[in-house]
Amino acid sequence: MTGVRITEANEQDVEKFVRDEDDRDFFLDRLRRRGAQGGRVFLAIDGDRAVGYVYLRLETAEELKLRLLLNKAPLLERLRVERENRLQGIGRMLVTMAEATAWVHRRRQVALGVVVARKPKSPVPTSPIGFYRKLGYSEWRFGRIKTYKDGRKSEIEYCRVFVKKLTPPTA
Ligand SMILES: CC(C)(COP(=O)(O)OP(=O)(O)OC[C@H]1O[C@@H](n2cnc3c(N)ncnc32)[C@H](O)[C@@H]1OP(=O)(O)O)[C@@H](O)C(=O)NCCC(=O)NCCS
Repeated sequence: MTGVRITEANEQDVEKFVRDEDDRDFFLDRLRRRGAQGGRVFLAIDGDRAVGYVYLRLETAEELKLRLLLNKAPLLERLRVERENRLQGIGRMLVTMAEATAWVHRRRQVALGVVVARKPKSPVPTSPIGFYRKLGYSEWRFGRIKTYKDGRKSEIEYCRVFVKKLTPPTA
């Protein structure tokens, strides 16, 4: 992989580099309404476009179960690497940067939800789970959680939750 840089992004960066409209709106909404206290956007930039990104949510989770059981663990949201740029280490670099930022904010674990189904008992696709396991995340023992897609109460999703205890970042 050459020429890709990972950087924390502000609103202007998001507008300039993120091509996908849904993802761009998501990041802009987070940055505008919640600010840096709410969370941080990280972009993997190649030339004039983002080929990957992730949001580190520092503010308290919306889901009661996460708030009660995760003790302020920040959440990784909207992690995505463009299909043609996968398996080149970009996802790992984005997550590593988000984890290092969480550590600086005195958080000692990071969590995330993998959407498994829009109905409670439908089959479980496993696609990103191997990636998270490789990076040291383990599934928690408290079962799936119910969330609302993009905060909209009309669209329910079920997620498996993965958690990683952080260690000090290496130089
Ligand atoms: C999951 C995703 C972010 C991984 O990004 P990536 O840039 O391809 O990952 P990396 O190249 O950094 O991979 C790091 C390691 O994980 C492995 N890996 C990557 N994707 C994997 C997968 N789906 N299953 C198992 N292992 C995987 C890589 O082989 C690599 O292993 P290595 O260190 O032994 O070489 C990317 O596939 C993606 O955007 N998927 C679609 C969106 C998505 O599912 N996001 C997660 C929402 S919860």
